[in-house]
Amino acid sequence: MGLWLLQAACLVTSLLKCAGAVRVTMRQHSLDVVQGDSVMLPCSFFTMSPLSRLNIVWTKTPLSDPRSPSQVIVYDHGQAIESPVLMGRVAFLDVPWRADIILNGTHTSDAGMYRCVVSNPPEAGGPGVGEVTLSVFAPPSLPLCLWEGDASAGGSVTLSCAVQEAVPVPEMRWEKLEPEEMSLPINMDGTLKGTLSIENVSSQNSGLYRCTVSNTLGTQCCYIRLHVYSSLGPSPGVLQGALLSLTMTLVLLALSALLLWLRHSVRMSWWQGEEDGCYNKIRYTPSLIRRTFV
Ligand SMILES: *[C@@H]1O[C@H](CO)[C@@H](O)[C@H](O)[C@H]1NC(C)=O
Ligand SMILES: *[C@@H]1O[C@H](CO)[C@@H](O)[C@H](O)[C@H]1NC(C)=O
Repeated sequence: MGLWLLQAACLVTSLLKCAGAVRVTMRQHSLDVVQGDSVMLPCSFFTMSPLSRLNIVWTKTPLSDPRSPSQVIVYDHGQAIESPVLMGRVAFLDVPWRADIILNGTHTSDAGMYRCVVSNPPEAGGPGVGEVTLSVFAPPSLPLCLWEGDASAGGSVTLSCAVQEAVPVPEMRWEKLEPEEMSLPINMDGTLKGTLSIENVSSQNSGLYRCTVSNTLGTQCCYIRLHVYSSLGPSPGVLQGALLSLTMTLVLLALSALLLWLRHSVRMSWWQGEEDGCYNKIRYTPSLIRRTFV
């Protein structure tokens, strides 16, 4: 008997609480959409007061960054105000009877947790709140294949393949297509980049490589052709470089000798006048050559 009374009391209090607050019902708690499509985010509410001061605020919290919610659209004083970022893409559907919104031309960046907050003064008891999680799927974008490293025999090379976006997380594969097809081990660097490392490359590693990126919505590929050249002795590039620097050194030496000699001749001609044959004498006098370094 005592328990029953207690339960009844609880029921009455909760009913009173409900009557004194806006009640929000989300007809769905998670929604999936393919990038580019429109999606309706449903939010119904129940209130006892007239709707003249109805206030609705929709916010979005990115799943990747739960601490930075942003405003999506607001209904206040009978007017809808869209966030400038979503201008022209978001609208209320049936306001003030419902708080549902439509989001057009969805992007993967629209994914997140959407919160519908409804208050209706003078109805007391705080606003009603509901949440719905939106996932935006996208096929892989065109991947970019790159290679870096040393493609001479014995060197190591890394092939990388990266996509800008793909939701859900894509599967990546590296294969060699020529001369015979074989699949190769891939190292994932995050979810959107896969690399293939080849150590001690030889001519057998030359050929056409393909990276395939796929998820439930699509598949994309990129290709890379690797040429491994054998290096017997110093490579031609190194030899040319050495020859070039040797030539440069010789030219510089010749130039400085010429400058030295010119400075002598000028000084000598001031000191001794321009006598015939003096240049030759001066030029070969060791003591005078030393003087120019002072
Ligand atoms: C969203 O798209 C629907 C259908 O194409 C269109 O009727 C509606 O006006 C669009 N809403 C916004 C806010 O662009
Ligand atoms: C590199 O490959 C060559 C032949 O392919 C082999 O003889 C050599 O031992 C390898 N070197 C290393 C460090 O694995």
